[in-house]
Amino acid sequence: MPSCLIARLSLALLLGISPLSSEALTHTVQIQATVPSEASKTVDRSFTGFAFEQSSFYNYSFDAQGKPNEFSQNLVDAVLSRTGGTPLLRVGGTSGDHGRYDASQKNATNYPATEYGPQTKISGNRLVIGPSFFKAFNNWPGAKFELMVPFYNTTFSRSVEWARAGVNQIGIDNLYSLELGNEPTFYPWFSIKEYVKRYRSLQARLIAAIPSLADKRIFQTFDTASYAAGDLATKPAFQDGLNANASSIKQVAYHYYQSNHGIADLAALQDYIRHTATKSNITNFLPNINYLKENHSAIGFAFTETGYTVGGNGGKNSIKTNNFASALWSLDFQLCALSMGVSRVNWQQILRSDLQMWRPVKTSLGEPRVTPHFYSQPFVADFIGKSGKTRVVELDIGTPQNGLYAGYAAYDDGKLARIALLNLEIWDSQRSNGDRPEAKFSLSGFAGTGSNITVHHLTADNGALAQENVTYSGLEWTWASRGKETKVKDDSKMLKINGTGADVTVNATQAVLLEIR
Ligand SMILES: *[C@@H]1O[C@H](CO)[C@@H](O)[C@H](O)[C@H]1NC(C)=O
Ligand SMILES: *[C@@H]1O[C@H](CO)[C@@H](O)[C@H](O)[C@H]1NC(C)=O
Ligand SMILES: *[C@@H]1O[C@H](CO)[C@@H](O)[C@H](O)[C@H]1NC(C)=O
Ligand SMILES: *[C@@H]1O[C@H](CO)[C@@H](O)[C@H](O)[C@H]1NC(C)=O
Ligand SMILES: *[C@@H]1O[C@H](CO)[C@@H](O)[C@H](O)[C@H]1NC(C)=O
Ligand SMILES: *[C@@H]1O[C@H](CO)[C@@H](O)[C@H](O)[C@H]1NC(C)=O
Ligand SMILES: *[C@@H]1O[C@H](CO)[C@@H](O)[C@H](O)[C@H]1NC(C)=O
Ligand SMILES: *[C@@H]1O[C@H](CO)[C@@H](O)[C@H](O)[C@H]1NC(C)=O
Ligand SMILES: *[C@@H]1O[C@H](CO)[C@@H](O)[C@H](O)[C@H]1NC(C)=O
Ligand SMILES: *[C@@H]1O[C@H](CO)[C@@H](O)[C@H](O)[C@H]1NC(C)=O
Repeated sequence: MPSCLIARLSLALLLGISPLSSEALTHTVQIQATVPSEASKTVDRSFTGFAFEQSSFYNYSFDAQGKPNEFSQNLVDAVLSRTGGTPLLRVGGTSGDHGRYDASQKNATNYPATEYGPQTKISGNRLVIGPSFFKAFNNWPGAKFELMVPFYNTTFSRSVEWARAGVNQIGIDNLYSLELGNEPTFYPWFSIKEYVKRYRSLQARLIAAIPSLADKRIFQTFDTASYAAGDLATKPAFQDGLNANASSIKQVAYHYYQSNHGIADLAALQDYIRHTATKSNITNFLPNINYLKENHSAIGFAFTETGYTVGGNGGKNSIKTNNFASALWSLDFQLCALSMGVSRVNWQQILRSDLQMWRPVKTSLGEPRVTPHFYSQPFVADFIGKSGKTRVVELDIGTPQNGLYAGYAAYDDGKLARIALLNLEIWDSQRSNGDRPEAKFSLSGFAGTGSNITVHHLTADNGALAQENVTYSGLEWTWASRGKETKVKDDSKMLKINGTGADVTVNATQAVLLEIR
């Protein structure tokens, strides 16, 4: 029995309710009608970014006929059109950092990503890109790019060639940031002092070779590997020398994977998506976020390569990790990050892996598809909204404080506009026993905010392990529709605010977005 169920039963016993009663747990939540002082800074409408492993990017950008990939275009548009933000696409990763640019190579890449994973071996089949690789940057309407150039090899001539070809073809105005290297904490020579020294040296070489980079806030530093937050911290790195170059730095980047191993079963899945774990993980980054906020407020803090798990599997009968429950984790992670001052999150896409929101072309692993993880993005985007004046706060969702429930409020120009409520209790139609539990949120504090609430559901009838039939607000995005949204059901509903409050019910393994009107 999952531990959460034991917790529910013991709570029910404590409250004197029969454990078999279908009585929902009730969370009493006090809302602030106007923005509380502890709310986040104003949220960037480009918060919901994407990331592409360098070796995979070409195949995300073109379809099998060599035309711009409309499926990819539509999916990116489905997210960013909801906020009106600029799509920010990070193109980087170990494959590129260990690779090189060859001006004479005819093919975009020396091997197709449809048949090979990212090739990162130091000796062996490393990534080589040719000039046509950069055509892949032309197919993303309105986008700007975070382009990684290699840093691993300390013979910087290769980095300069790569950057010059890239900046020329992408165009300086479409370049959001130029990222130097990937996960430097893994470099054999790594120490903070050595990193700062070599970073400044490569930055100077790039500016000398590409004059359009001069006098601009355009560089992206760190891209520290997940699980190494403490190893390349902002304060010592800036104090050891980056302070002198701070005016050229656009954002400081970290990578984030919730887990570094597979997920064995539903109990492990429950722990993996628990809000308390997610929040305490993000809290580890607060010294870095706060250092920038206090000392370099113009420099953003971004998770530029993000996913649910890297490496390993959970054993012989382990579960597929790109599932509906981990999509709810992705939602909670982003809302929590928003409330804690993170500027943006780029979601990693690797063509031949489970780590993707969509598979853009057929590969030897299967047909093009949209994965459950994609569904977190339209929700996050709608929560942020279009105002450009949104601030976010986490709600105190009351007891029990077991990490199975979370809530957030979004304020437009100071006024309560939207609420997100998550019920992270794992329930799966195949593997859980019994009916789908529900949680009741008794919300109050709405006086003066509106009279109606529209409730939109992010849900899957089959629950935690669902791979298909996931919907957000009754909408679906599929390969069949080429990534255009399709209305498949109408499960949104209207609630009346009784003057001060309203009650909302959220099923286990489900989230709702409330729009206050
Ligand atoms: C994938 O990309 C490679 C270049 O990296 C290209 O040669 C190949 O045709 C692409 N495959 C498909 C199915 O688009
Ligand atoms: C270059 O691409 C063409 C067309 O996709 C393919 O037939 C050929 O094998 C590729 N060459 C190399 C060296 O990968
Ligand atoms: C680094 O680049 C140089 C010059 O292109 C090359 O000779 C060398 O083999 C590379 N080193 C590594 C470790 O890749
Ligand atoms: C970086 O700092 C060095 C030393 O102060 C300075 O010479 C150089 O111009 C700076 N470069 C940028 C882009 O800020
Ligand atoms: C997040 O929290 C879980 C549970 O405590 C832990 O296993 C995992 O390593 C954490 N991940 C990160 C990136 O800190
Ligand atoms: C801001 O920088 C100063 C000077 O380096 C340092 O003492 C302080 O701790 C920094 N602030 C934060 C929040 O890290
Ligand atoms: C609230 O809903 C009622 C119908 O239930 C409608 O008459 C009223 O116009 C709505 N108010 C707003 C502000 O949307
Ligand atoms: C998904 O929905 C379709 C259409 O309602 C249905 O035929 C199919 O069986 C469902 N798939 C699963 C895994 O429940
Ligand atoms: C309005 O709803 C809230 C939340 O359910 C409840 O606490 C409050 O008593 C209700 N007020 C009235 C007047 O019904
Ligand atoms: C909640 O779960 C119940 C029981 O499975 C189901 O009947 C109901 O349709 C679900 N509600 C939503 C909004 O998904």
